[in-house]
Amino acid sequence: MRLFVDTADLEEIKTAVGWGVISGVTTNPTLIARAGRDHETQVKRICELVGDVSAETVTEKRDDLIVEGRRIAAWHKNVIVKVACTPDGLAAGKVLAGEGIRINVTLVFTVNQALLAAAVGAYFVSPFVGRFDDIGEDGTAVVRDIVSAYRQQGITTKVLAASLRHPVHVTQAALAGADIGTMPFKVLESLYKHPLTDLGIERFMADYRKTQEPQAIKR
Ligand code: G3P
Repeated sequence: MRLFVDTADLEEIKTAVGWGVISGVTTNPTLIARAGRDHETQVKRICELVGDVSAETVTEKRDDLIVEGRRIAAWHKNVIVKVACTPDGLAAGKVLAGEGIRINVTLVFTVNQALLAAAVGAYFVSPFVGRFDDIGEDGTAVVRDIVSAYRQQGITTKVLAASLRHPVHVTQAALAGADIGTMPFKVLESLYKHPLTDLGIERFMADYRKTQEPQAIKR
């Protein structure tokens, strides 16, 4: 599973890219607003740092979405245009995909929605794990079912597990067969952490320091 970071914060993205573990970024209007910049400027900056940057449309009608999607796609070759899983969003997505623009169908919560996304030629489909859990459903099970349905049907749309809120979500998304998992920077950071790793380093360093003491040198 490829790892993406779900943020529009340039410092977080630079750090994550520096770690060498992420190959993409997902954004949405909430994250762009949090970064305090205008949409176009921020997305272009992110595209200079990493490939596969999802940028969301904010209009609602098919024709407006087509115009907006084309405009967003022209910002940078790394952009993937997000459209919501609505009749207008998918109809616009079909036109955009037909023009060779990569689209990410977002706010997906069922296998049927994922089938609709595939039917219009989506490059990514984004089931929202945490938000489904929030209403007492099983977000990870939906990812697993979408992956299974896509495999059975020979669908090549990539499953991007989104709204991953904690490290267990990341593990579950990988075990469910997601192609990509996108997560906030804090969750990405938490993937490194284990008390036994810290303890192991501490012990190795302590033993190494002993070998540097003069009495440890054998004659
Ligand atoms: O990638 C989608 C993500 O931004 C939604 O996350 O935590 O707001 O449900 P969340």
